[in-house]
Amino acid sequence: MSLNHRRRSIQLETQSKILPKRDPSPKKAPKANSLVLLPVGYPLRAGEEVAPFLTTDDPTLFQHYARSQWIGLIVKKGDFLFDSLLFPDYAFRAISIKPEGSQISKNTEISLFTEQQPEPPITQSLEEINFSDVVGQQNAKEKCQIIARFLNNPELLQSSWAPRNILFWGPPGNGKTMTARALSFETENTMFLVKASDLFGIYVGDGARKIRNLYAEARKEAPAIVFIDELDSIALKRKFQSIRGDVIELVSALLGEMDGIEKNHGVVTIGSTNQPNILDSAILSRFEELIEFKLPNEKERKIILQKYANSSPIKFKDIQWDSIVEKTQNWSGRDLKEKIIKNAIHYAVLREKSQILQSDLIHVMQKAVILTEKLHHYS
Ligand SMILES: Nc1ncnc2c1ncn2[C@@H]1O[C@H](COP(=O)(O)OP(=O)(O)O)[C@@H](O)[C@H]1O
Ligand SMILES: [Mg+2]
Repeated sequence: MSLNHRRRSIQLETQSKILPKRDPSPKKAPKANSLVLLPVGYPLRAGEEVAPFLTTDDPTLFQHYARSQWIGLIVKKGDFLFDSLLFPDYAFRAISIKPEGSQISKNTEISLFTEQQPEPPITQSLEEINFSDVVGQQNAKEKCQIIARFLNNPELLQSSWAPRNILFWGPPGNGKTMTARALSFETENTMFLVKASDLFGIYVGDGARKIRNLYAEARKEAPAIVFIDELDSIALKRKFQSIRGDVIELVSALLGEMDGIEKNHGVVTIGSTNQPNILDSAILSRFEELIEFKLPNEKERKIILQKYANSSPIKFKDIQWDSIVEKTQNWSGRDLKEKIIKNAIHYAVLREKSQILQSDLIHVMQKAVILTEKLHHYS
């Protein structure tokens, strides 16, 4: 077999896996009872134009429309069906067909898949965390208290002065996520806590749909907070967006929701990022306030260390905290908790010690410093 011929046959094979065929001998395939289609968008995109998300107000009408163009096709789960009438080349994916590999007939019930339920990344924080647990970050805590007042006062919240879009930014491990959780816990308002990278979907249009669903759910629960953690993973500057095509649709959908002041009454968006410098400028401009989370100062480092040491199952004895604090400039809250307190506990557990002494703490800290320096050397 020539290479060309082989290439052609491979291509035909892969095509036949995803494109349905009209049955040349109609008797062979059973008639389809039902077919569920997911709108997935166009195979190509021109410029910045994003594929529309198609839905229908009249399922019966859609059924007639779908049958009229796809009648006779034999469809398997996963096949693509291309619209040839109103939105030429717009693709739908068969996500369920009963029976499998059956033929669309005039009696097949064809419906559009619409996700009514919230998707997995939407979660609510019920963890007991209070603002007082967050050491320092006074500015952020004050802003959160303002947001809390608005959320708990419907009249204030309806006014155009209500907080809408706030950005938490600053080096990792300094309490951004923790503060958002505390806001949710203290206001008893629903918080939709989403990790931005979870908004990516498998198909074109998935991400945009997830964002729309997220805000639709938040509106239903209003007053509510939408917290988008690690925002930089989706809202990249335009020049980086081409790395992932679906980032553009995510950014557009998010911009649409952040602008939806009228329809999004009672919904406050908080974004969080370690790298505001790489954020898309359009997204950045939608945040009315940028709240910086700083590395803890000496006094705060001491409070953080003591706070976590006090909750340790092994007692810390006669520790000169000031000497530890002096050596931990530029360490984040997370570093202090994990690299010092947690490691010290592990050190003691391994040696079956009943208490942690200053010398143990120094030992663990020096080890952490050496490891960090090594990492810097390699990065
Ligand atoms: N200011 C702080 N006060 C108390 N604990 C802190 C503080 N900052 C960080 N931590 C500890 O470090 C963990 C990670 O912090 P996190 O809020 O996830 O950081 P970020 O979102 O800024 O990256 C927290 O769960 C908490 O245990
Ligand atoms: Mg975080």
